[in-house]
Amino acid sequence: MAIICNEATKFFALETMNSTYAMQVGNSGELLHVCYGGKIDCTDDLSALTQRPDRAFSPSPAGQGRSNSLNVLPAELAGFGSGDFRMTACRVKKANGSSVTAPVYKSFRVYDGKPALPGLPASFAAETACRTLEITLEDLFSGVEFLLSFSVFDNSDVIARSVKVVNNTSETVEIENLMSFQLDFDHADFDLLYPQGNWAYERHIERMPLHPGIQSFGSVRGSTGHQYNPGFVLAAKTASENSGEVYGALLVYSGSYTADIQVDAFSGTRALLGINPENFCWQLTPGAEFHSPEALLCYSAEGLNALSAQSHKFIMEHIIRSPWKHAKRPILVNNWEATYFDFDDNKIYAIAEKAASLGIEMLVLDDGWFGERNDDNSSLGDWFVNTDKLGDFAALVKRINALGLKFGLWFEPEMISEKSKLYEKHPEWVLCVPGKRRSYARNQLILDMSRKEVVDYLFETIAGLLKEIHIEYIKWDMNRNLTEIFSAALPAGQQGEVAHRYVMGVYELHERLLQAFPDLLIEGCSGGGGRFDAGMLYYAPQIWCSDDSDALERIPIQLGTSLFYPCSSMGAHVSVCPNHQTGRSVSYDFRAALALGGTFGYELDITKFTAEEDRIIREQVAAYHKYNDLVREGRFFRLSEGFGRTNCAAWCWVSDDRQEVLAVAVCKQARPCSQEPFKRLRFAGLDAGKVYTLEDGRSFHGSTLMNTGIDVTVALSKDASCVMLYLKAK
Ligand code: GLA
Repeated sequence: MAIICNEATKFFALETMNSTYAMQVGNSGELLHVCYGGKIDCTDDLSALTQRPDRAFSPSPAGQGRSNSLNVLPAELAGFGSGDFRMTACRVKKANGSSVTAPVYKSFRVYDGKPALPGLPASFAAETACRTLEITLEDLFSGVEFLLSFSVFDNSDVIARSVKVVNNTSETVEIENLMSFQLDFDHADFDLLYPQGNWAYERHIERMPLHPGIQSFGSVRGSTGHQYNPGFVLAAKTASENSGEVYGALLVYSGSYTADIQVDAFSGTRALLGINPENFCWQLTPGAEFHSPEALLCYSAEGLNALSAQSHKFIMEHIIRSPWKHAKRPILVNNWEATYFDFDDNKIYAIAEKAASLGIEMLVLDDGWFGERNDDNSSLGDWFVNTDKLGDFAALVKRINALGLKFGLWFEPEMISEKSKLYEKHPEWVLCVPGKRRSYARNQLILDMSRKEVVDYLFETIAGLLKEIHIEYIKWDMNRNLTEIFSAALPAGQQGEVAHRYVMGVYELHERLLQAFPDLLIEGCSGGGGRFDAGMLYYAPQIWCSDDSDALERIPIQLGTSLFYPCSSMGAHVSVCPNHQTGRSVSYDFRAALALGGTFGYELDITKFTAEEDRIIREQVAAYHKYNDLVREGRFFRLSEGFGRTNCAAWCWVSDDRQEVLAVAVCKQARPCSQEPFKRLRFAGLDAGKVYTLEDGRSFHGSTLMNTGIDVTVALSKDASCVMLYLKAK
């Protein structure tokens, strides 16, 4: 990695392992984007890339004649209202009411390492393993400064980018829009890939050609949401899993965001990603600063799998901080789908006893252990043990620990029930417009996490319990989205800050708990995967992937999640059949094939198991111990493309030294045998020259496995059939 700066020509370039990202200050002072893609030689004359001839209806800044309109030049941080009619990346409103914003170059500096973003999750690296270029731009219309930071990392193709706004002026301004990420291209020959879905249907990858106009998705929910994810890929039309140019962008943020991809009238593309300007407005008083969330960008010339691998590696090394990130997670059993709210200490202990006998390593007590919560109508906020239900809780946990099991507990810290002691005491802590209609979801309201006293209360209550009882894991849930976003604690002029301050409050609570309990394993959750993002992964190394625990449904969910996020971060369990969400029954093997690809655990009533089920579970536990190092640390490849138009999917993990491989192939829905196309599992990422041996003794060269593959027609001939192949090289 390197950063190249030419002070005379005001040219800047970032070099990663395999890419170059270049910028140059243009004739009218704006910072222009020169190019981003495979490595180039920056000593070449690239000036033509930042010149544009006259274009009709495209105004140019004074002194530019009729050329170099900001409306056609590729920008790094497009201003507002001064000649660029495309979507903009920053808009600052001055005291005189004008929002015209034109950031022009002022200075730059380069330094080792990268600073943390105050109150926000962001990538981190040792000073020697990362360098940062900071370019300061000044708004011609207000004097406010934008400090654009780009960091590059050793052995990575990821670039981290964020913007800091500094108000060095003597008047208060309002930030109406600030995108973390902007990337302009002079063509639009891309497909857009992005994760979309819904509750229990998260992160299904959508691929579509870009078209003229704006393609936009995002969230106004106050959290990232189940519907989309704050990331996308722009892929060359011919790009596939293992070949072609692809560009990825991912926001390290857990609140409302927007992703906008605009194909303009000259067939150029502008991509933006950042906090959603809808319902956002930040007052910046003289001397104050505002930090945008960080965006990560990545380029690969070798297709989507290579992009995902870069993203996985970066998230593991530079985003997830937890001491658990490289550790094998305890196999857990969660009582939710086993009991829902209907349990007592005896039932929980019985599950724990059975779990211990099967080799399961942790019991997680889900919703319903606190206040008077026997259904979802009450008690959120009252994080005190329901002793009627659970008796002496500390003693119960001790007994569970004595079985050799760890103990974990469910919380939904950000929520409050109207029927709760907390609400009786602090109705003003609810996020709502006082005296006006408010919206309920799952019968619950939301705490105003922008208030310091709310975060303090939650920290003290949760930390109090953690100090008293040996809790080694927390499932941190969030089961509704924000509505009536208004804080009684903030003045009228700052109501546009509440949604972002809420997210900062959530981050602060996480931070304080982790400072106090550094070894605590937190699993994020939001009605399943409604807040699965790199921001949360900074605090929680794993996130419950989806409330849809049906293994068949999990295929596109987990594969879609893998576009950006590592397998070790995906919460995945074996659940009961018929499945509670879909009514479908599939084999234990099939359920394990999916769950073993994530954190692994159980979500069913194991006390009801037959002897045969006990045997199967013990085998699965052994499989977890055998394969999990590879799943956590190996390189992941999606292999489904090899199956053409069959109803099958496949994926594999390959160890760093390419000695060990685990492949999974699944058939979702079978067709009558005589109608089935032949199915060949074609591997990727192997060493072509090595000989790999399967557990049945067959051996093949890596080249054969990758180019011809193994026939799995018979193994995948039934509905929800699967095959797991473990190979070792000599
Ligand atoms: C959410 C979670 C579930 C479970 C319930 C409890 O839906 O995703 O796993 O914890 O809440 O209410």
